[in-house]
Amino acid sequence: MYRGFLLCVFAAFCMAAIARAADVSTKIVNGEDAKIEDFPWQVSIEVMRNGQFGRNCGGSIIDNRWILTAAHCYNKTHPRPLSETRVGAGSSSLSKMVEFRSVKKFHQHERYDSRDHYNDIMLIELRRPFRFGSTINKISLDDVYTDYTGKSCKVSGWGNTNEFGGHTYPDRLQATELTVISRESCALQWGDDDLSSDNTKLCAQEYRRDVCDADSGGPLACQAADLTYILVGATSYGPKVCNGTLPGVYTRVSAYIDWIEKTKSKKGKGKNNTKGKKGKKDQKNNKNNKNNNNKKNKN
Ligand SMILES: *[C@@H]1O[C@H](CO)[C@@H](O)[C@H](O)[C@H]1NC(C)=O
Ligand SMILES: *[C@@H]1O[C@H](CO)[C@@H](O)[C@H](O)[C@H]1NC(C)=O
Ligand SMILES: *[C@@H]1O[C@H](CO)[C@@H](O)[C@H](O)[C@H]1NC(C)=O
Repeated sequence: MYRGFLLCVFAAFCMAAIARAADVSTKIVNGEDAKIEDFPWQVSIEVMRNGQFGRNCGGSIIDNRWILTAAHCYNKTHPRPLSETRVGAGSSSLSKMVEFRSVKKFHQHERYDSRDHYNDIMLIELRRPFRFGSTINKISLDDVYTDYTGKSCKVSGWGNTNEFGGHTYPDRLQATELTVISRESCALQWGDDDLSSDNTKLCAQEYRRDVCDADSGGPLACQAADLTYILVGATSYGPKVCNGTLPGVYTRVSAYIDWIEKTKSKKGKGKNNTKGKKGKKDQKNNKNNKNNNNKKNKN
């Protein structure tokens, strides 16, 4: 069954894309130029290709040493040396990032399943903390499992802006608003029953607007009751053509609060995971299974 593709970019793909960038230029897809001051938690996760760092994924600063992003932004079976990833922050312009941090450790979810996009979440532990100010800051997590169905939330990133299946990458941060849709509608549109009962994901959609390649891992931020923006989702996957015909799917942050806390408490412990050590799972605790079974929560 066709399930769309992950919103990540890899070397050859990205290069070809930039070469073909003569096309219509719009935004995230049909979003607008954004100011980093309005999204100070937004980071660019960049990887080395042919000796140069280039965009790969988005992410959100959740603490001065911690980035929340998608699990699929890290290739566990063929990990790069840690020095080949960096996290950039502090500018609306990708080419003018002001602060870069190197990675201490990738904490990919132990039960990430790339086939079904389960647990598509990862924390990146930085070697040095960010200093917070107007252009670099953290975003609070949605930790109360609010139902955002019908609400308009913001997505942002430096990902593909092409709504016709081509590739056009902006230097300027793009953002747009998308409406969170019900699990039932999302499941129906994707023809994927699992989505209707899976409350570790959420879906958002808008006519001709969407996240796209290289927006992966980036924030879906919604306004809380006090009007501040909180992190509700992390961009996970979507249709091949990012034009809103099918909804985008996001990892639901509130389903992973326990996992995030547990992972952050492991900081500095354990070895680097640059060697591609496999199968060394942490003790499984079934917190997220519990969430999965918690189906009564739906609207
Ligand atoms: C990881 O990298 C290897 C080698 O480039 C590739 O064959 C494999 O498909 C990648 N896995 C994922 C999940 O991207
Ligand atoms: C979106 O893309 C799909 C696949 O190319 C196409 O069938 C559909 O008409 C497009 N929708 C819009 C609103 O452009
Ligand atoms: C982790 O990797 C860095 C360089 O990538 C190295 O300097 C450091 O010693 C490693 N630490 C451990 C515990 O292996």
